[in-house]
Amino acid sequence: MPELRVGDRCWQVAAGSDLLDALNQAGCRIPFSCRAGSCQACLVRCLEGEPADARPEALDPLRRAQGWRLACQCRVVADLRVEAFDPRRDGMPAEVAAADWLAPDILRLRLRPERPLRYVAGQHLLLWSDQGVARPYSLASLPGEDPWLEFHLDCRAAGAFCARARHLLPGDGLRLGALGGGALRYEPDWQERPLLLLASGTGLAPLWSLLREALRQAHSGPIRLIHLAREPAGHYLAEPLRALAARHPQLSVELPCAADLPAVLAEFRLVPRRTLALLCGHPERIEGVARQLYLAGLPRSNLLAEAFLPHAP
Ligand SMILES: Cc1cc2nc3c(=O)[nH]c(=O)nc-3n(C[C@H](O)[C@H](O)[C@H](O)COP(=O)(O)OP(=O)(O)OC[C@H]3O[C@@H](n4cnc5c(N)ncnc54)[C@H](O)[C@@H]3O)c2cc1C
Ligand code: FES
Repeated sequence: MPELRVGDRCWQVAAGSDLLDALNQAGCRIPFSCRAGSCQACLVRCLEGEPADARPEALDPLRRAQGWRLACQCRVVADLRVEAFDPRRDGMPAEVAAADWLAPDILRLRLRPERPLRYVAGQHLLLWSDQGVARPYSLASLPGEDPWLEFHLDCRAAGAFCARARHLLPGDGLRLGALGGGALRYEPDWQERPLLLLASGTGLAPLWSLLREALRQAHSGPIRLIHLAREPAGHYLAEPLRALAARHPQLSVELPCAADLPAVLAEFRLVPRRTLALLCGHPERIEGVARQLYLAGLPRSNLLAEAFLPHAP
């Protein structure tokens, strides 16, 4: 049986064991969220030995070269020595610049990192609370333009991170973990293509960044932005979206509520096949919308979807 080492501890595990489970069952308290290779919460650094990695492409090549691996995607096949991601050593400090409620349960957090962070619209970042809870959140800010990193947190459920975030005040500290490249992006050669941006709830965060990125790159094709919310109060960016649409005639904004969803889905049969659809938000909602667009004739390769998977118990 292979040996697993962390610090001074060394124990045997069954060959082929899931690395994340093996570490956590031994009490190492490695954080995790999606268990799907998406959130990057479960980073560990391999100091000796190499695990079998099911999704090497899920991590950027530089981090891989430094020995980092996503524990949820790795199996222990030979002796291995690892160390956990330590937010105090490996994370970047950031200060809360502002924490504002955009709707009764939607918190807009603006952070100032200690050093400039290079990112592109559509990426997500792991936020570490001072209590050691790590969760992924999409960047809503526009790189190179907004002087802060902006996040939109759905605080409806009494989750561990949101419980802390609710009480954050300007000047408080957080740590930034890994920057993840999600499924969402904007590419310069899309300029003339029709874009369909569909968000449910705080899935609007990365689309708010991507929409402004597309307009900054002088996107000339029609852009249709649909923001689904449970109720009207959930349309937390209604005013800035309408203001943007007033300045850009190629942009149309629709703000349906949950009850309007069947009508929205029925209309998808009119979506041109050249459309690029960027979807983000609640996993079931996004899966349903993607299925409907596919059935309406949109090629799968034109669909880019980011599901906000919750922390896996
Ligand atoms: C790539 C990616 C990007 C994301 N970006 C965003 C984003 O921009 N904005 C956003 O809002 N979310 C985003 N998410 C989702 C977010 O990371 C998760 O919802 C996260 O689990 C929330 O952390 P938490 O500690 O507050 O809740 P957790 O403690 O992780 O709880 C997760 C869920 O479990 C349930 N739960 C937990 N405790 C209780 C309780 N006491 N009572 C009832 N139910 C409970 C709730 O349904 C809760 O939502 C993203 C997820 C991924 C994978
Ligand atoms: S990437 Fe491993 S838990 Fe999300």
